[in-house]
Amino acid sequence: MEEDRIITAHLMMEDQAVEYSLRPRYLAEYIGQAQVKDNLKIYIEAAKMRKEPLDHVLLYGPPGLGKTTLSNIIANELGVNIRTTSGPAIERPGDLAAILTNLQENDVLFIDEIHRLHRTVEEVLYPAMEDFALDFIIGKGPSARSVRLDLPKFTLIGATTRAGLLSAPLRDRFGVVSRLEFYTEDELSYIVTRTAEIFGVGMVGEASREIARRARGTPRIANRLLKRVRDHAQVRGDGIITDAVAGDALERIQVDPMGLDSIDHKMLRSMIQNYGGRPVGLDTIAASIGEESQTIEDVYEPYLMQIGFLQRTPRGRIVTAAAYRHLGLPVPELNG
Ligand code: ADE
Repeated sequence: MEEDRIITAHLMMEDQAVEYSLRPRYLAEYIGQAQVKDNLKIYIEAAKMRKEPLDHVLLYGPPGLGKTTLSNIIANELGVNIRTTSGPAIERPGDLAAILTNLQENDVLFIDEIHRLHRTVEEVLYPAMEDFALDFIIGKGPSARSVRLDLPKFTLIGATTRAGLLSAPLRDRFGVVSRLEFYTEDELSYIVTRTAEIFGVGMVGEASREIARRARGTPRIANRLLKRVRDHAQVRGDGIITDAVAGDALERIQVDPMGLDSIDHKMLRSMIQNYGGRPVGLDTIAASIGEESQTIEDVYEPYLMQIGFLQRTPRGRIVTAAAYRHLGLPVPELNG
């Protein structure tokens, strides 16, 4: 299952406490996403100068890249409170109304997985985002009338792995729309080094780079791999993470040098064996490896596409020649 993979980018229970202590508090401490960071810095500064709330911000991109972290940093830099919830957690319009009326002036409301908001709840958000107001209908039939309640001014930060699933009216109401990108090996190496320092664990040589290389562009995975490598170093060595310890531990964790695990291998091999380089539909892939289509689309595919192992075409997904070579398989004619 996806949830059991060491390289899953989804937040797991054991990560939560750790992620909290590792989380950078200020933009200056946040590594990577340079462009997003530079822009946000200016918008935050400007909002503070005007003593106004920051425009609503939409952060999107694959899981584990730091959307929640960045939202907390934004609130911290603005010097306001942050109220955190998620799309599926807000069941009824009244739930959202209660949250909104309890905000203080210029606060941040963070809604994770905002693409999963119920339609009826989403409609409460429109006037709230646009006019800082809630509209109520009082009464029924001919005597029904609309009443407007003013809300404190606030900043909505929405996070989603799937910007494409957001309705156009909702998407249009965000003043700032930022896409988080996969991290470079250098950036991940910095992050691993920083985390090791916070953990107080010794790391030498190229170990941080070796971990970074296998973290599929994702800080959450890099930090999780570091924790497992630390365990190996502690039990089987003297606690210091050397190149040899890191390499050996990563080998045992079964994450290959490109960061692919057994499920990635299973997916690519299944596509190759059953379809020999021809395009395959998403649902077919999902069925053949026993995963949900949505998980494949959100979690597995983005990275495989990023490293050029998978291509999306109108007729389906294609395994590229680079992937064949990585798996040590002969490239079919079809694939050039
Ligand atoms: N830990 C996880 N993500 C991070 C980032 N982008 N910068 C610094 N530390 C991190």
